[in-house]
Amino acid sequence: MASRLLQISKTRPQALSLRVSSPVVSKVVYRRFNSTNAPPRTLPSFSMAGKVCLVTGGARGLGNEFCRAFVQSGCTSLAVIDLKQSEATNAAEELSSFAASNGLNDVKFIGIECDVSSEQSVQKAYAEVMETYGRVDSVVASAGIVENYSAFDYPVDRIKRLYDINVHGAFFTAREAARNMIPQGGGSIVLVASMSANIINIPQPQTPYNASKAAVKHMAASLAVEWAKKGVRVNSLSPGYMLTKLTKTILQNDQELKKTWESLTPMGRMGEPDDLSGAIVFLASDASKFMTGSEIRVDGGYCII
Ligand SMILES: NC(=O)c1ccc[n+]([C@@H]2O[C@H](COP(=O)([O-])OP(=O)(O)OC[C@H]3O[C@@H](n4cnc5c(N)ncnc54)[C@H](O)[C@@H]3O)[C@@H](O)[C@H]2O)c1
Repeated sequence: MASRLLQISKTRPQALSLRVSSPVVSKVVYRRFNSTNAPPRTLPSFSMAGKVCLVTGGARGLGNEFCRAFVQSGCTSLAVIDLKQSEATNAAEELSSFAASNGLNDVKFIGIECDVSSEQSVQKAYAEVMETYGRVDSVVASAGIVENYSAFDYPVDRIKRLYDINVHGAFFTAREAARNMIPQGGGSIVLVASMSANIINIPQPQTPYNASKAAVKHMAASLAVEWAKKGVRVNSLSPGYMLTKLTKTILQNDQELKKTWESLTPMGRMGEPDDLSGAIVFLASDASKFMTGSEIRVDGGYCII
């Protein structure tokens, strides 16, 4: 399996004089966001400094936005996992340019091909991450698909494929994460579920998807209990309607559907992928260190009406 490790080698920006008490945690974030000598106006526990991150479905959409949020929050190393090697590599290269343009040096990136529905493929990807970085601290299972068929019309092979990716893929990703995290002392796993784990979307029919996301949400809670005393936290993040390739494909021939979704969302709009950045960094970082088995919904209020 071919992959590429990228390390930004641009000239380090002139160091600012730091007056922060937690230098390792705060330096990177400080350099990026502050042009004065004031300490960063954020809790140090929200930083991803020193952390090795892995994101499945990281080449595109929400997964890619999670990668950006981790880079902006100072992660040390990042593994972008996706179905095709070319897309994983391209995303890793784009993220390294993004880091460089933000003055964040010394961040390492690797793009790895992996089909999360295959346990063997997931194990191979983690083996590569461990060989390259030696540890993994924060994992996000974002790879997933959606399809709209009525229950009577849904082809059996497609139903099975959807569960293989959305449910078994999340399980293999989490299990392999825990296998590697427990010997190193712990870590944080975030399974991307959906508001569809809690409500039934209308008008489009998507019963297997909704059921798959309810399974992912409950999987996160179940695994959280299994691994709570071993230092591994597992939470789920449930977005509402977000503008990504996944939803754009559904909406491309149906602008009325977008209006319907917006009218059903109290905030009156679809989410931009970066609307999830705060929640993902919270869950993946030490800011949420006493939180496990929980779900965070970020849906513009959809589920409350
Ligand atoms: N976009 C939304 O409105 C929305 C809302 C709620 C939940 N979600 C969930 O968020 C996650 C990401 O969705 P998105 O909108 O970014 O989708 P997307 O289609 O834009 O991106 C999904 C990524 O997953 C990858 N992928 C698909 N199958 C894979 C496999 N078998 N192995 C490895 N990678 C695979 C794709 O190549 C792609 O890069 C999904 O789990 C989705 O169900 C999305």
